[in-house]
Amino acid sequence: MNDSRKLSDSRPARQRTTRLLHAGRGFDPARDETGPVNPPVMRASTILTRDVETLETKAPYGTKGTDTTRALCEALLEIEPAAECLLYPSGLAAIAGVVLGLTSTGDHVLLSDGLYYPTRRLMNTLMARFGVSASYFSPRAGVDEIIGMMEGNTRVLFLESPASDSLEVLDVPALAQAARERGITPVIDNTWSAGWLFDAISAGCSVSIQALTKYQSGHADVLMGAALCSAEVAERVRTAALTMGQCVGADDAWLVLRGLRSMDVRMRQAEKNALKVAEWLMTRDEVEVVLHPALPHCHGHEIFRRDFSGAAALFSFVLKPDYGEAEGRRFVDSLQLFGIGASWGGYESLVMLKDMRRLRSTEWPHAPWLVRLSVGLEDADDLIADLESAFAQMHAA
Ligand SMILES: Cc1ncc(COP(=O)(O)O)c(C=O)c1O
Repeated sequence: MNDSRKLSDSRPARQRTTRLLHAGRGFDPARDETGPVNPPVMRASTILTRDVETLETKAPYGTKGTDTTRALCEALLEIEPAAECLLYPSGLAAIAGVVLGLTSTGDHVLLSDGLYYPTRRLMNTLMARFGVSASYFSPRAGVDEIIGMMEGNTRVLFLESPASDSLEVLDVPALAQAARERGITPVIDNTWSAGWLFDAISAGCSVSIQALTKYQSGHADVLMGAALCSAEVAERVRTAALTMGQCVGADDAWLVLRGLRSMDVRMRQAEKNALKVAEWLMTRDEVEVVLHPALPHCHGHEIFRRDFSGAAALFSFVLKPDYGEAEGRRFVDSLQLFGIGASWGGYESLVMLKDMRRLRSTEWPHAPWLVRLSVGLEDADDLIADLESAFAQMHAA
């Protein structure tokens, strides 16, 4: 991971790791004589005002945020500089909040087919009922083909890169620019990079959505989402969030802030472990292909090298066609160190078995059964031994 972004103001040009550790802290010598390192948890529904006029003009309320949520937003904006940060009770709530804020009946949304599945469900059910249509482009399509699918009523281009499960990398700067030139708002689900490995706002996206549930909180105990918005869309997205009462609790915001302080070292270690596991999987006869954007054979690898400063530890491998659902289940059920569970980005390794025939509407060029791994902070050799033993048990049955 490189560390090259510099501050543009007159403060010393500190590395971003340092800036992340100092953003949103509890003590500011310019303001306080004494104070704690971390901001206090400010639990509040009601926020009192000095007089009626202040209540009328400022209308403060817990749903609009507290000192704790503001401290978290300050730190998130340090990671991915944007005009505004909005918090939601989950990553999926952030996705839904952004789509609802940016579309109206009769609009069309163009999305990558390599989507987090619940985003597709949102579009094909609730949004379809509200008269917002959706179509999907293959994450293997070229930029011109994707541009060709933009329609007169397309309002949002919804990207996810790398793709969920299949990990193709999109040319986000080119697609964001093409969308902007056509008056279409480019939005990205930037959860894989945690905003830390890929700055989607600088790459031209108007909204970068992050499920803070993953690396940012990092300990499998908090659900939260964020939408980092550029100035031209911030008001629309904020108004939708406030209208729908979207907000987060102070205790959860504090936990995410705590997780952020160690996110860089956790991600670096997990990245190393994942690459070691991925390279080992490439030597196995049972594996058709390992899908990890840092591997040269992966779709979009050159773009990954150009745009990302490192890799998350979430990747997949495809079982050869000789191995079907029964073998896939046996393999996953035999793992001891990888927990079988949804989500990812925590300190612990996780696994899921997926049928790509259910997850793709465009062509899928490999065998159907895919194993997704979120590699954690355990010793990589122990994880490899666990996978080896599970392959043996898959064959033994
Ligand atoms: C790419 C991606 N985006 C969004 C989400 C949703 O996050 P949450 O679980 O906080 O709703 C997930 C969760 O797995 C995800 O993988």
